[in-house]
Amino acid sequence: MTREIRKVGVIGLGTMGAGIAQVCIEAGFETVGREVSLELGERAKERIGGFLTRKVEKGQLAQGDRDTAVERLGITTDIAELADCDLVIEAAFEDLQVKHELFGELERVVGDDAILASNTSALSVTEIAAACERSERVVGMHFFNPAPLMKLVEIVRAERTADDVFEAAYAFAHLLGKEPIRCHDTPGFVVNRVLIPVLNDCIRVLDEAGVTPEDLDTAMRHGAGWPMGPCALVDLVGIDIHVHASEALYEKTREPRMAPPPRLVRMANAGKLGRKSGEGFFKY
Ligand code: CAA
Repeated sequence: MTREIRKVGVIGLGTMGAGIAQVCIEAGFETVGREVSLELGERAKERIGGFLTRKVEKGQLAQGDRDTAVERLGITTDIAELADCDLVIEAAFEDLQVKHELFGELERVVGDDAILASNTSALSVTEIAAACERSERVVGMHFFNPAPLMKLVEIVRAERTADDVFEAAYAFAHLLGKEPIRCHDTPGFVVNRVLIPVLNDCIRVLDEAGVTPEDLDTAMRHGAGWPMGPCALVDLVGIDIHVHASEALYEKTREPRMAPPPRLVRMANAGKLGRKSGEGFFKY
């Protein structure tokens, strides 16, 4: 069966959800974003509009196309308004209980053929899907931060994902202009399985080698060709998000390198969350 995706729902308009919604409207899909309050939703829409305005200023987008794209995005607090979506991408808080409630609710409102995707980065898609009666319609679509700029989407096959659902998610990522890959539902999937322990090693090296965050970033940019240094990257991802993902992977794999370095845990506990809080390894 081929599945046509015309309308997309995005649950949660934080950094990742807003980025995903932006990618969807830029690719021409009518999109409904659901947030817990209208104020948060409208604020996310303004941020998206701001990024698109910047593209107009840089000559990458016509003003008319920018305005039409922004008009494609509806904001709601009511999951029932996602009833006619062909695909819903969940980008809510990384908590299994929260996701179970959302997927349970979603299944009650969407049509029989709707695909339910999770953007989870550290939880098991199979465990998330367990909340659904028809778990064969659940798939992982893992975008990378910042979603409008990063090309990769990991399409994650959960234990019960149907073949046509998996392929439809893969094809949709292509329609978004992304470079999707197919993978199984293993802890961290592909990129985070590799990147999280490497970033944790980088943070441990700060103390071991007595190097400053500035110099470590210079080292990895100019010695390893990274587009941005590890400290700037963890600041971008969010110290709390990185600690949470490390803990989740450590819990699943028991590999010591997955465990969050104490320095990061201290920063998270002190509210130094990176760019979003104005301070992490660097000040913003
Ligand atoms: N939409 C549109 N434009 C955006 C944007 C958005 N959401 N966010 C930023 N931009 C724009 C900025 O406005 C900026 O333009 P201006 O400065 O002209 O306004 C432009 O994009 C970026 O410009 P840069 O010169 O900074 O771009 P760059 O060439 O340095 O690339 C980058 C930026 C793509 C982020 C690059 O530094 C990079 O690849 N970094 C690594 C990022 C990475 O590894 N991400 C993965 C994190 S791990 C993860 O996400 C997994 C997880 O589960 C947590």
